Amino acid sequence: MAKAMVAANWKMNGSFELLQAFAKETWQTAQAEVVFGLPSIFLHAAQKLGLENLAGEDVSAHESGAFTGETSAQMLKSTGCKYCIIGHSERRLYHHEKEALLLEKWQQLKKVGIKPIYCVGETEAEFSAGKTEEVLTRQLMPMLEAELVDAQTVLAYEPVWAIGTGKTATPEYAQKIHRIIREKMLNKYVNIPTQMRILYGGSVQAANAKLLISEPDIDGFLVGGASLKVDAFKKIIEAIE
Ligand code: PGA
Repeated sequence: MAKAMVAANWKMNGSFELLQAFAKETWQTAQAEVVFGLPSIFLHAAQKLGLENLAGEDVSAHESGAFTGETSAQMLKSTGCKYCIIGHSERRLYHHEKEALLLEKWQQLKKVGIKPIYCVGETEAEFSAGKTEEVLTRQLMPMLEAELVDAQTVLAYEPVWAIGTGKTATPEYAQKIHRIIREKMLNKYVNIPTQMRILYGGSVQAANAKLLISEPDIDGFLVGGASLKVDAFKKIIEAIE
């Protein structure tokens, strides 16, 4: 199995001062690869300050051109990004991003060698209606059919009802869904899914990180709120031994 990953997702938060505070610390550990998903405006400064494993929070589906406000994969690459989050539920919800568009974004990343952190997960209504598996199939199948998935792909399972709500999925529930996701991959590929990292996201804190990471199919975390404080984020990383 690959090394665990703890990925920060600052969303539209943070400041240059916060970036400096993070850059003073040592983040990478023997147990976990630590990734910083930052607003694109901070990426260049983060690279200069020496933060490693930078990630975009989104990317344009286009290579270049008249797309005001967007950031291309090549631009992310030039600021040292190794990863890029795509398909986050906030992009799906507020920007109506669907699989067809996400597939194009993924292809842009692939062209420049940035690894995607592809987010999937059901809303509260879908969860209550027992539609979780159906939703995951809808979100994952186009990527599998386009043969975009490889061992470097990182998936993040984030039940929308757990994001920023303080309602974390139980370790048992998260494990069950991670297993389902890995099995969907196994139906298509032989070896890749065992090496691939599937992160859990949704109100991850130091207090719940240890139990979640002890589940066999949880390979790390995508962390929003708790990634904005040096101490809180450090404690989550320390939970991975
Ligand atoms: P949260 O966000 O940790 O604040 O719930 C996670 C995410 O949206 O990636």
